[in-house]
Amino acid sequence: MNKFFTDVLTATFMALISVVIVADVNAADYIGAKKCKACHIRQYKAWEKTSMSDSFEHLKAGSKEKEKKKAGLDPGKDYTADPGCLICHTTGYGKPGGFTNIEETPNLTGVQCESCHGPGGQYVKIMKKNKKYRIEDVRASGLIIPSEDEKGCMECHGSDSPFTEEIDARYKWDFRDRLERTHKHFPLKFKH
Ligand code: HEC
Ligand code: HEC
Ligand code: HEC
Ligand code: HEC
Repeated sequence: MNKFFTDVLTATFMALISVVIVADVNAADYIGAKKCKACHIRQYKAWEKTSMSDSFEHLKAGSKEKEKKKAGLDPGKDYTADPGCLICHTTGYGKPGGFTNIEETPNLTGVQCESCHGPGGQYVKIMKKNKKYRIEDVRASGLIIPSEDEKGCMECHGSDSPFTEEIDARYKWDFRDRLERTHKHFPLKFKH
């Protein structure tokens, strides 16, 4: 083989390898709330008390029977493998590296940190390396600060949800009130 062909072959091989590596990094993008807990114990404990943390449990037969009946759902049915429910009751469903099913991704059930803050695989590496990271860097790696925009919330809290104000005033959406109930705000130690 002459040098030109071996060079082309090597280049093609390297390109293939890098595609595989990149795909792998993306696949691992959602890491689960337990990983965040290590450094954000107070936010974790506050979040754990909200209904978001066990929202996957509410898809099981026999759970929240009254509420399901009122929304026209079958309280005796198991909804834990129903894509029409998983999209809002798990973390990253339908997105690369997100929840797929309870066997493969048991760490991504419920509405976790990354449902609001974005998949953490990349920005957590930066937080780990440098507590005084630059805010631009974590944002560029996918960190979302949800208080700036309610669009992300509306993907689940909008009119596609079976549980809206029309059914019960309890489900009324008020962005400010919801932000306060989301998880207690603990001011940062380091300014960014
Ligand atoms: C991936 C879908 C999803 C996104 C995105 C989402 N939520 Fe939710 N949220 C839910 C579900 C599902 C519940 C109800 C869980 C249950 O009762 O099973 C919920 C419940 C809540 C609750 C009630 C908690 C309690 O214990 O009373 C608050 C507050 C809330 N969400 C705020 C927000 C805010 C603020 C945003 C945006 C920053 C947001 N949510 C984004 C799906 C989502
Ligand atoms: C329903 C959406 C939602 C969920 C779920 C959520 N957060 Fe937040 N988070 C917010 C909002 C809104 C803020 C306020 C941002 C601000 O004040 O600018 C915030 C702020 C923070 C902050 C900054 C310090 C603070 O306390 O305000 C940290 C750290 C944080 N969240 C970590 C987490 C971790 C860890 C989890 C999971 C255990 C989590 N969040 C789950 C919406 C959410
Ligand atoms: C488009 C997003 C979305 C879809 C799809 C969705 N949910 Fe939810 N669900 C929500 C939100 C948001 C809430 C919380 C409402 C609130 O707090 O205002 C919720 C709350 C619930 C609750 C708790 C109600 C309560 O009062 O405690 C149950 C049970 C539930 N959903 C079951 C289901 C089932 C079963 C399916 C599939 C048939 C489903 N959901 C599909 C977004 C969704
Ligand atoms: C190895 C430790 C570590 C892990 C793991 C970690 N973080 Fe952080 N995070 C930090 C540090 C340090 C800061 C800066 C905190 C401060 O200033 O007090 C921070 C800040 C934040 C902020 C505030 C952003 C800002 O600057 O306004 C959010 C939101 C956040 N983390 C979310 C998460 C989420 C979600 C996860 C899990 C997916 C996570 N973190 C995992 C160390 C970590």
